[in-house]
Amino acid sequence: MNLLPLALQADSVTFTSFTPLLVAVALWVGFVIYGLFSLRNHPKGLNPLFFTEMWERFSYYGMRALLLLYMTAPASAGGLGLSLKLSGLLYGLYTFFVYALSVPGGWIADRFLGYRKAVLVGGVLIALGEFALASGPLALFYVGLAVIAIGTGLLKTNCTSIVGMLYEKNDPRQDGGYTIYYMGINIGALIAPLILGFMAQDPVFVAALGKLGLASANGWRWAFGFAGLAMVAGLIQYSLRQGSLGDVGLKPGARLSANGEQIIHAPLSPEERSRMWVVVILVFFIMIFFFVFEQAGTTLNLFADEHTRMSLFGFTLRSTWFQSVNSIWLLFLAPIFSWLWIALKEKEPSSPIKFTLGLFFVGAGMLLLVLPSLAYTANPVLKVSPWWLVGTYGLHTIGELCLSPVGLSTVSKLAPARYSGVMMGVFFFAIGMGNMLAGLAGGFSGSLQPATLFGGLFAITTAMALVLVALTPRIKRMMGGVH
Ligand code: ALA
Repeated sequence: MNLLPLALQADSVTFTSFTPLLVAVALWVGFVIYGLFSLRNHPKGLNPLFFTEMWERFSYYGMRALLLLYMTAPASAGGLGLSLKLSGLLYGLYTFFVYALSVPGGWIADRFLGYRKAVLVGGVLIALGEFALASGPLALFYVGLAVIAIGTGLLKTNCTSIVGMLYEKNDPRQDGGYTIYYMGINIGALIAPLILGFMAQDPVFVAALGKLGLASANGWRWAFGFAGLAMVAGLIQYSLRQGSLGDVGLKPGARLSANGEQIIHAPLSPEERSRMWVVVILVFFIMIFFFVFEQAGTTLNLFADEHTRMSLFGFTLRSTWFQSVNSIWLLFLAPIFSWLWIALKEKEPSSPIKFTLGLFFVGAGMLLLVLPSLAYTANPVLKVSPWWLVGTYGLHTIGELCLSPVGLSTVSKLAPARYSGVMMGVFFFAIGMGNMLAGLAGGFSGSLQPATLFGGLFAITTAMALVLVALTPRIKRMMGGVH
C-alpha cells in the first residue's frame, strides 16, 4: 500500500515571525468568547466537553503539523533523520490509526470503562505519548505515537458520544450542539500549528532556548511537550467540572437501561437492527465525503504550492497557510448553521438530505477548480488567484457543516445505548479510511490532468449524492422516527 502521498499533507510550518503567532492568539481569544456565547442555550455539560475536545485537537493537529518535518529533519537540525519513505509510511499509518482505534476505544467504554472514565484515561495516554515524543529517543518516539493513537481512540470517540447523551431524545437543539462542539475542534485545529510551529522552528524562540541552554538546534521537542501540556490543561478542566455532567456517561453503555438492569447481552430488536444498518449506510457516504474533503492535504496543497499566486492585497502568503482556511471558514459559518437547524423547525431537512447536501458541496468545491486548472495546464507558468482555493474551501466547509457534525449527532441518535461508543467509533473509522484514500489519490494524481482529476472528483460525489437521494425514502423508514 502506498501511504507515502499522505506525507504531502504538509500542514508543515516554517514561520519566522511573531505575526502568525499573535494572529493565532487573537483568533483563539475571539473564538473562545464566541464559543462560550454560543454554549449558553445548551446543556451545561457541553461546556467541559467543548474544551476537552478543543485541547485534544490542539494537541493532535499541532503535533501532526510538525510530525513529518521532525521525522525527516537531520539530527543536526534536531530531527530524527528518517528517510522520507519511512516517514511517509509512519505518518500515513499514524493518521489512519488515530481514527481507526476509535472502534476498540468505543467498545471498551460500552463494555467496561464507561464513557467519562474512557475520556480521562484517553487524555492521560495522549499527554504521556506527547511527553514520550518530547523526551527524544527513537524508541520512545515510536511508543509515543502508538500511545497517542490508543489514547485518541478512547478520548475522541467517547467525548463525542457523551455530547449526544446530554440531550433528551428528539431535542431539536442536538444538531446545533454538535455544531458548536465542532467549533471547539476547529479552534484547536486552527491555532495549534501556528503556535507549535513557532516553538519548533522560529529562530527567535529557538535562539531564546539556546541562550537558556535548553535546545541545540531546534525546538521540536519543546513543541511536543507543549502539546502534552495542552492536553493536561484540557484534562484538568474536565476533571474539575464533572459536576456539570451529572451522571451522564458514567456507566458503560452495556449497563444502561431504564430500570438499571444489566442488558449487556440483550439481543438487538428489529428496530435497533435497522437503525444500525442506517449508520452503516451513512458511514459509507462519510468515507466518500472525507476522501474528497481530505484532498486538502494532498492535491489542494499542491494546487496552492505550485499553481497559486502567493500574494493577496500586497501581502506575501505561504502555501501552508491555506491549510487553515477551512477552519477559519468553519468558525465563521458554524454559528449560522447551528442557528439555521433550529430556525428551520419542522422544515429542517432530515439527516440523509443533509448528507446529500454535504456530498454536493464538497463536489462543487472541486468543480470550481476545473477552470483555473485548465488555465494553468494551458500555460504552465501561470499562477492563479488565491481566491479560487478560498472559494473551494468555503464550499467544502459548507459541505462539512451539513455532514460532519450532523453525522456525529445522527450516529448518537441511531445507535442503541449499549453500542453508542462502538458506533461512534465506526464513524471515525470512516474518516480514517477517507484520509487514507485521499493519500492514495494524492499519489495517483500526478498521472492525471488536473481538470480531469477535479472534474472526476465532482462526478464521483455527485453520483453518490444522487444514490443517497434515491435511498433516502428507504433510509428514513429504517430510521424509525429519528430525524
Ligand atoms: N476535522 C474533524 C476532526 O478533527 C474530522 O474531528
